[in-house]
This record gives sequence, C-alpha cells and structure tokens, in this order.
Amino acid sequence: MEIVLSGIRSTGNLHLGNYFGALRNFVKMQYENKCYFFIADYHSLTTHPTPKDLHSSVKQVFVEYLAAGLDPEAATLYRQSDVPETTELYLLLNMNAYMGELERCTSFKEKIRTQQENINAGLLTYPVLMAADILIHKSHKVPVGKDQEQHLEMTRTFANRFNRLYNVEYFPEPVAYNFGEELVKIPGLDGSGKMGKSEGNGIYLADAPEEIRKKVMRAVSDSGPTELNQEMAEPIKNLFAIMKAVSKQETIDFYIEKYNTCQIRYGDMKKQLAEDIILFTSPIREKISELSRDEEYLRKVVNMGAEKARESAAKTVREVREIIGFKSF
Ligand code: TYM
Repeated sequence: MEIVLSGIRSTGNLHLGNYFGALRNFVKMQYENKCYFFIADYHSLTTHPTPKDLHSSVKQVFVEYLAAGLDPEAATLYRQSDVPETTELYLLLNMNAYMGELERCTSFKEKIRTQQENINAGLLTYPVLMAADILIHKSHKVPVGKDQEQHLEMTRTFANRFNRLYNVEYFPEPVAYNFGEELVKIPGLDGSGKMGKSEGNGIYLADAPEEIRKKVMRAVSDSGPTELNQEMAEPIKNLFAIMKAVSKQETIDFYIEKYNTCQIRYGDMKKQLAEDIILFTSPIREKISELSRDEEYLRKVVNMGAEKARESAAKTVREVREIIGFKSF
C-alpha cells in the first residue's frame, strides 16, 4: 500500500490554491492509501507568530481541513508539533544537507528578498524540515501544488544521500503528486503569480459570498482582445485558470468562444466566476462554522491523530538511529 503525505503551513486560512493544489487530491486518496495529513506549525515559526496567533491559526486550519473533506477516521490528521520525532530526523538530515544547496533554494532566495528583517536559520533549513515531515512516514506520494516541486526534489536528494551514505535502501524517493499529472498552480487575482497567503491575493474557503464577489470583481483584467483568437494576457489566463477549477465545462467554453470572437465582457465573466466560486465554497464554509464550535470533537480528532502519527514516526527514528550507528550498550 502506498503511503501518502501532505501538509500545509499553519499561517492563514485555506485558499483555493491550497484546495486545488493539494487538498482535493489528498481527499480523493484517503480511502485507498495510508494517508497522513498534517499542519506545519513548527514551520510557521520561521515567520515568528505570537503564541496566541499560533494556536488560533492551527485550530482554524484544522477545522478547514475537516470541513473540506478530510476524514480523520481514514487518514491520520495531526499537527507537526505533536510529533517531536520529526525534529530528531530533521537534526539528523541537517548533517548531510549542504549550505550551497540550501542557499540556492528558490523559496529561501524569495524570503531573503521579502523578509529582510528576519532571515533566520529556520528559513535556510526549511526544506530539511519538510523532508523530515515526508520521510518520517517513509512516504511515496506527496499531493502538492507546483510551488512545492523544488522542495520535493530536495527531499529526494536528502533521501538518496542518506541511502548511499549508509549503504541501505531505507527511504523511498517521494514524488510530488497530482491526479491530472501536471502539478497545479492556481493564480492570484492580482494579474500575476500564484494565489498565496503571503501575497494577499487569495480567495479563502471561509470567505463570505459578498467578500468573494468583491474580490473577483476587483481582479485585474484588461480592455479585451482586439483581433480574433488573440493570445491571452497573463491576467486573463489567470481568470480562466480559476474558472477551470470551479466552473462547468460549458461555462468555460462559452467565455473562451466570447474571447476568441472579441465579444467578451469581463464584468459578466467575473460575475459568473464569483457565483461559481460561491457555489463551490458555500457548503465548506457552512461546515467550517459548524465544526469550529465543536471543541470536544476537535480535541478528540487532534489526540487521535497525534497518537497514530507518533507511532509511525517513532518507528522510523528508531530504525534511522540504528542505521547511523547509535546503539544501546
Ligand atoms: P503551503 O502552506 O504554502 O501550501 C499548502 C499546499 O497548498 C499548495 N498551494 C497551491 N497549489 C496550487 N496553486 C497555488 N496557488 C497554491 N498555493 C499553495 C501547496 O503546493 C501545498 O501543497 N512547505 C509547505 C508546507 C509543508 C509540506 C510539508 C507540504 C511543510 N512540510 C511536507 C507537503 C509535505 C507549504 O508551505 O505549503
């Protein structure tokens, strides 16, 4: 049976990118595989949240996972900090991770640019902690969006290096996974780049319908094509990409045809897009508000997940210690 793992940072709510890039694939897999899904709250310390924010955002993401269809009876749903074994594997992997490769990582370079006041060592070793998350359960598949591809590549490098160094075939080579083969990148509403928490350009599963309408109507577009079958500008491609995720095929075909014949009215297209997003998110939003009131259920789910995840993690750390040469007297 294949082992599937995915995760999300605990900073901020779930947006459409998280859903279509990772969660949806995971939800589809949870009954056929051994699945782990976790909330990366250690990782969130790289941006220094306050204790109060740390707790409330972990709770919120937990609730949103459940509302979006994760079944805690089928999958193991846990928070990273409930599995301290991960930090031991992280330390061990750090010994074979090289400065050069960590400094070259795109997400680190990006952080150096955007978070100049706080370039901490946790940012540099972020991919090592992520590799530890994945390797602690010896995962095979990792449902993620396109933005995590490089981190997965680094995880394979660390896994292979460990196997070679100790002459074992211990860690599998985990692959980034999406059902449609190509990894997904859901764009933001600001005309370029991906939808992201740090970018502030997202539509969140918990957004109220009015909020969604406002955001979509404000999305960047242009003044429309001036000749038949004109190549689309980036912001327009982005609107269609979001539409492809939430709308019916006939709706997409209708607006493509309007575009190709220069008859498109972006106001109409955005109205339709907003309504389709609302239709899609509404049941999830309702479930979110129902679940956030059920403290007892949440506690039960968190405890159950922690226990199951630790069992698997403890086994890996025990075996890794042996391989490295830590033996009992
Ligand atoms: P994070 O929290 O940024 O995103 C969580 C998941 O959502 C996907 N995603 C997207 N997919 C498509 N389009 C987008 N615009 C978009 N934005 C986000 C991400 O690819 C991811 O799958 N480093 C990870 C968290 C993490 C992790 C792990 C993930 C830590 N350890 C181990 C998998 C396995 C992150 O920051 O994801």
